[in-house]
Amino acid sequence: MAKLFLLQVNIIGMMDNSKKYQNMGFGLGLRKEHYQDVLDSFPAEGSSLNIDWFEILTENYLVAGGKPLYFLDKIAERYPMAMHGVSMNIGNTGALDKDYLKQVKSLKNRINAHWLSDHLCWTGTNGTNAHDLLPLPYTEEAIKHVVERIQQVQDFLGGRMLIENVSSYVSYKQSEMTEWEFLSEIAHRADCLLLLDINNIYVSAVNHEFDPLDYLLSVPKERVQQFHLAGHSDYGDYVIDTHDMPVCDAVWSLYARAVEHFGDITFMIERDDNIPPLETLLMELNLAREISHRVKQTGYDVELVQKIQSGLAHKLSPGQEIPV
Ligand SMILES: [Fe+2]
Repeated sequence: MAKLFLLQVNIIGMMDNSKKYQNMGFGLGLRKEHYQDVLDSFPAEGSSLNIDWFEILTENYLVAGGKPLYFLDKIAERYPMAMHGVSMNIGNTGALDKDYLKQVKSLKNRINAHWLSDHLCWTGTNGTNAHDLLPLPYTEEAIKHVVERIQQVQDFLGGRMLIENVSSYVSYKQSEMTEWEFLSEIAHRADCLLLLDINNIYVSAVNHEFDPLDYLLSVPKERVQQFHLAGHSDYGDYVIDTHDMPVCDAVWSLYARAVEHFGDITFMIERDDNIPPLETLLMELNLAREISHRVKQTGYDVELVQKIQSGLAHKLSPGQEIPV
């Protein structure tokens, strides 16, 4: 009986692993400010940059030609890529934009992207674009609606997409469940994967006064393909997901918990405004690597987090280790 149970556990484990794409390691968002630095740092015998992969903002490259596409082609020859979109409007009640999806599929094939992601949100309706990632009501009706649309997208693309949790500043009185229950149920029914934005969990936790660990530890492990980390603006009573500054200590702490819980997950830092030199982002990426390494060795512990919170880790240069 015990053997049978073990066999069942192993089979389930194998099935779960097969749902995911390959782990790509530690990456950065590709930004135009760094195009030339990235290319210059890539000699024929191998890259001198300690970056495993790049994530692009899909909509920046849905064009017929031009400089961004020129650089993207060059960089995609050298690094693994993934695509991250903001315009799928998966929560909208109107029809999916087939032209947009065709362009996305074409770009995915062009750069051989490992996967593509977009947000669990709506961005406009009736032809109006809000230019923002707006949250959905957490209801059974919304689950059914979004699941059907994700399945349509996945059928069109021929593979699993990733859905990302957004940060939010409002809630709906119609909601029937928590955000993490909503996200998890959609991932399960649509058979899609998750891009867990740890900063977004933190931002929403502060704004809506819930424990971010309740969220983090409730998401199904077998569905989480990628992490995002980013900086935000803290206004005391509320925080806004601005992506214009370094990752804060509380979010690093949550990241350490995520590594302990989820293990090796493809990781990436999002910086969309106030773009620093590539070297600065490499320091942050190195910090993520070190935290992951330490947590996997010894588990999450208060001392590690205190070292991070002291700001010591932010002074590291690439290649150095956290002195814990
Ligand atoms: Fe994100």
